[in-house]
Amino acid sequence: MIQSQGVDKAVGRVSGKVAIVTGGASGIGLSCAHRLAAEGAAVVVTDIEVGAGSEAVAAINAAGGDALFIKHDVTSEPAWQDVLAATMEKYARLDILVNNAGIGIGGSIVDMALADWQRQQAINLDGVFLGLKHSIPAIRDSGGGSIINISSVAGMKGAANLAAYNATKGGVRLLTKGVALECAQNRWGVRVNSVHPGIINTPIWDKVNPDFYEDGQNRVDLDAMAESVPNGILGQPDDVANGVLFLASDESSYMTGTEMIIDGGLCA
Ligand SMILES: NC(=O)c1ccc[n+]([C@@H]2O[C@H](COP(=O)([O-])OP(=O)(O)OC[C@H]3O[C@@H](n4cnc5c(N)ncnc54)[C@H](O)[C@@H]3O)[C@@H](O)[C@H]2O)c1
Repeated sequence: MIQSQGVDKAVGRVSGKVAIVTGGASGIGLSCAHRLAAEGAAVVVTDIEVGAGSEAVAAINAAGGDALFIKHDVTSEPAWQDVLAATMEKYARLDILVNNAGIGIGGSIVDMALADWQRQQAINLDGVFLGLKHSIPAIRDSGGGSIINISSVAGMKGAANLAAYNATKGGVRLLTKGVALECAQNRWGVRVNSVHPGIINTPIWDKVNPDFYEDGQNRVDLDAMAESVPNGILGQPDDVANGVLFLASDESSYMTGTEMIIDGGLCA
């Protein structure tokens, strides 16, 4: 469980900014919500998981932060419109979007059900598209800001039995670049970058493919996977959140359309 961190609203690295974090109830999104709040941003946490999302917001507020939970399925365009409306109603601006919600469905491409392919595309890629579509005007009209799309090392290189996930995360990588250039060309003041985590210790690994592990345990052996990482270390959600915080802040104001790889050297 990520502990709440003290909040300094006046001198934080994202003080005065308003952020939306999708999939903020768990793992990397939860860590991003805590880090952004601890550095002074008001954070709108969205997720399909109401219980965990509400707990996340309660912890941030208890630590002196400012957070709001909204139930949100990122595949739904009306739900995105509701999230933007609620954000503008409460905070009257938007500076940061972390398009983080995602799932991983592993397994052979020749066995994959079309429904599973489409569900993964809908959450991992359609969800990012809808976030960009509905947040860019709000960020532009607030004077500019930063969008961070969570891709993966699987968006940089292929992996056997992860091809469908590769397709979604490779899509996020180039969607990011195209949109970054559109924002730049139009002088909208909206920076758009992608983050590519390696093997990070989160609950996503419990759900990668329920049928894939014959011993009945869905959890991938992350300690064994860590041995494939050049530095031998399993990533933690805060490792990714620290990169997201930098891209969200004005410290990265000359960065757009680029990739931040946080992987212990996997892609090197
Ligand atoms: N953990 C890793 O090793 C790793 C590596 C590379 C990339 N990523 C990416 O990081 C992101 C976060 O993953 P995580 O590891 O924290 O996983 P996680 O399972 O801990 O968290 C994902 C969150 O997204 C939410 N979510 C799922 N479907 C949703 C939907 N339709 N609408 C809104 N929310 C939804 C879940 O409820 C959950 O709270 C994902 O995009 C994932 O692909 C993770």
